[in-house]
Amino acid sequence: MTNKVIIEERQGEVMNLKGGLNGKKLFLESYGCQMNFADSEIVASILQKEGFITTHEEKEADLILLNTCAIRENAETRVRHRLTHFNSLKRNRPSLVIGVLGCMAERLKDKLLEEEKLVDIVVGPDSYRDLPKLISVAEDGERGMNVLLSREETYADVNPIRLNSNGISAFISIMRGCDNMCSFCVVPFTRGRERSRDLNTIVHEARYLVEQGYKEVTLLGQNVDSYRWNLSRDGQVVDPEKGHADFADLLAAVAQVNPQLRVRFSTSHPKDMTDKVLETMARYDNICKYVPLPVQSGNSEVLKRMNRGYSREWYLDRISAIRRYMPDCGISTDIITGFCGETEEEYQDTLSIMDEVHYHFAYMFTYSERPKTLAERKFEDDIPEEVKKSRLAKVIQRQSEHSHAHHKTMVGKVHQVLIERESKRSTECFSGRNTQNIVVVFPKESSAPGDYVNVLVEECTPGTLIGRIVN
Ligand code: SAH
Ligand code: SF4
Ligand code: F3S
Repeated sequence: MTNKVIIEERQGEVMNLKGGLNGKKLFLESYGCQMNFADSEIVASILQKEGFITTHEEKEADLILLNTCAIRENAETRVRHRLTHFNSLKRNRPSLVIGVLGCMAERLKDKLLEEEKLVDIVVGPDSYRDLPKLISVAEDGERGMNVLLSREETYADVNPIRLNSNGISAFISIMRGCDNMCSFCVVPFTRGRERSRDLNTIVHEARYLVEQGYKEVTLLGQNVDSYRWNLSRDGQVVDPEKGHADFADLLAAVAQVNPQLRVRFSTSHPKDMTDKVLETMARYDNICKYVPLPVQSGNSEVLKRMNRGYSREWYLDRISAIRRYMPDCGISTDIITGFCGETEEEYQDTLSIMDEVHYHFAYMFTYSERPKTLAERKFEDDIPEEVKKSRLAKVIQRQSEHSHAHHKTMVGKVHQVLIERESKRSTECFSGRNTQNIVVVFPKESSAPGDYVNVLVEECTPGTLIGRIVN
């Protein structure tokens, strides 16, 4: 993963796209998870066909679009601030069109148009093909909205425009939506029903990326383990007995595109991750040995209230399975502190599962109640904010110790690294990641981004490995 980054804490990223002209300029800013960033690349593709060019300068834009996230309250607060700011630009430029896309658009629907009058268009994640029409409605001074969710839309035929890309790593959406209904989570409401994308279009996209010089793809879905494509649909049957491809089959198909192409994925679900997936990962050298396996809580009662579909024991069994197939596999997690009714003992179980698994990396959050979710309807959000925060602080501290300990065991060893970019620390250094998704920084020598190099790690911090090339 090129860092899911602590979701909405990620700075809004400005998109740049090149294309034909209609004289109009688009400023596109994205928040949220990798899937949202991948969607922005779909939006860019759709609007490029309409002749839009992008700009990094909000002041010269004819159209400002925000692709938004609704996962926690502070994600939405940030977007509201941005919208208020963009609205102030309208005073001098009444023709400016402002639109909200993505999960917050889906959650708030016409509230953004009618009550708050912050925007001209509101477009949900399954309606991006409608954008050109809605933009022209807005240009005529009306307000436009489409927040219909679909059971079929996967944008399988839209060739994404790679935005802010290093030309080395790209995301490929393999499915949309989520059917899991974890009680804390807004995603099933904002992204709709789960559906998988045509396997052949995914493999085709990976091939195309290789032709363009890309070296790494990350397959994206809220729960990649429930990927399923009916092969009989297009008459191309890989396993005639079965008639469908699962995530392991898809991983194998993408890995076979090119041995020089690294394959990653995000995110696995503990209740659905099969041994077949792990066996497939172990079989292909170019599938990175890294599993993002969000635990959320280490206590089985809390997991039950979260409606996660597994217990602590089940989760630990999946961790053992990962280690059985791939002893050195990197494992990361997501953790929520202060979920409804979380007692001190239940919280201690989260710390103890962290000790037991010893994660390489974690994304950690305090619980934020979301409207319409099961938890909002069934449970009281009864843990005081200070308690949520102090629990989070200890979880973060513990994770930092574990990451540092892992990194120390990597010192003195040689790691294969795909070079991604110049290091932020020094213009003399490159940065890339090893197979376990850990950032490695080293002096450039005669290497270049996109190269695979062997790096001897000589020191480490809680976040990074530091070394030198020993090819
Ligand atoms: N589909 C992925 C997670 C997507 S959301 C999975 O099931 O693992 C990314 C992370 O945000 C979640 O793993 C969870 O840790 C966090 N999250 C989701 N809803 C949240 C909420 N209401 N409050 C706090 N954190 C939340
Ligand atoms: Fe949300 Fe659960 Fe679906 Fe993940 S699996 S997106 S946490 S409902
Ligand atoms: Fe946020 Fe939507 Fe992703 S709520 S985390 S942008 S699926």
